[in-house]
Amino acid sequence: MNPATPARPLKLGILGATGLVGREMLRLVGQRSWCLGELRLFASEEHAGQGWEEGSLRGDYLEASAGSFAGLDLLLSTASGDLSRRWLPEAVAAGVVCIDNTSAYRLDPGVPLVVPEVNGAELEDMQLGQGAIIANPNCSTIQLVVVLAPLLRGPGLRQVVVSTYQSISGAGAKALEDFEAGTRRALMGEAVDLPETVLNVVPQIGELDGQGHTEEERKMMNESARILGTEFPLDVTSVRVPVLRGHGESVWLETEQAVSLEQIEDLLEAAPGVVLHRGDQHPTPCGISGDLGVHVGRVRAVAGSDRRFQLWIVGDNLLKGAAWNALQIAEARSWGT
Ligand SMILES: NC(=O)c1ccc[n+]([C@@H]2O[C@H](COP(=O)([O-])OP(=O)(O)OC[C@H]3O[C@@H](n4cnc5c(N)ncnc54)[C@H](OP(=O)(O)O)[C@@H]3O)[C@@H](O)[C@H]2O)c1
Repeated sequence: MNPATPARPLKLGILGATGLVGREMLRLVGQRSWCLGELRLFASEEHAGQGWEEGSLRGDYLEASAGSFAGLDLLLSTASGDLSRRWLPEAVAAGVVCIDNTSAYRLDPGVPLVVPEVNGAELEDMQLGQGAIIANPNCSTIQLVVVLAPLLRGPGLRQVVVSTYQSISGAGAKALEDFEAGTRRALMGEAVDLPETVLNVVPQIGELDGQGHTEEERKMMNESARILGTEFPLDVTSVRVPVLRGHGESVWLETEQAVSLEQIEDLLEAAPGVVLHRGDQHPTPCGISGDLGVHVGRVRAVAGSDRRFQLWIVGDNLLKGAAWNALQIAEARSWGT
């Protein structure tokens, strides 16, 4: 059963339905006309009991508790890693296929980490009714691997260096609210107790580890290697910028084999999920906000080199970086029913 072309109506749950990503998931489910027999929306106690309406379906937000997920076909989990670790084992035991948007299971060798354009084949053994977890990768990782995969399969990759320009919405609804309120105050001349992100560029996302890498940088390095199925030197600097939505990435890469700029552009243009901007057209976070694709521009050779290239990648972190990738996973196969 594909939720977009179902044999029977799907029983869907969303854990974290009121969050930035959860709301995009719900919007996309409506837009993609998933045929739903039941929709169970979970949030924190702050929203529990409040009513929601989606198309012909309506209900109250629920707080997750023992037995909450029984009877569902599919659960989109997008609250927090701790909540996924707490509830997904129970949902799996109840036969629910769980697509987890948090970092909880991304490096678990028993859980596929999937970007459908790159390694969708890993979903082949999944069956509705047979509980399982599928992990949705980190937002910056998804847009990077969609672009690196065709180059890896083509001329090969010897080394990649990435600097990210990540929007505030990547840190969730509270961070976005604080940023917007702080920016208003800063523009009125206030300077006290502003979030560090306000009118600023912050080169640290998450805790530093013993080698000086941040949590976000480690996620990109580890998850990219898992999804692409190979290790090559990948160095990342993750930076938070004062943009509401959409992540940018400046990429320097070296190929294994000699290749022309035109060949690189042709590979990218033909790659699933990639939107190539040629010449002086450059994609920006604001320009592509709301779009499902991964946009690439500023593709150029380093000083006439036939192995070293630079390019600029932009994706909507709430869509391809989260909600859309999860829905693509759900729609990627017939689920064997
Ligand atoms: N934002 C992104 O770009 C992005 C991209 C990829 C992955 N992710 C990951 O996706 C997850 C959600 O991100 P987000 O940006 O949507 O966060 P968010 O805006 O902060 O939303 C968090 C959601 O979790 C719910 N929640 C909190 N405590 C809960 C509880 N005890 N029981 C049930 N639900 C609870 C919240 O409900 P209330 O509204 O009731 O508090 C809300 O629906 C995170 O793990 C994040 O790392 C985010």
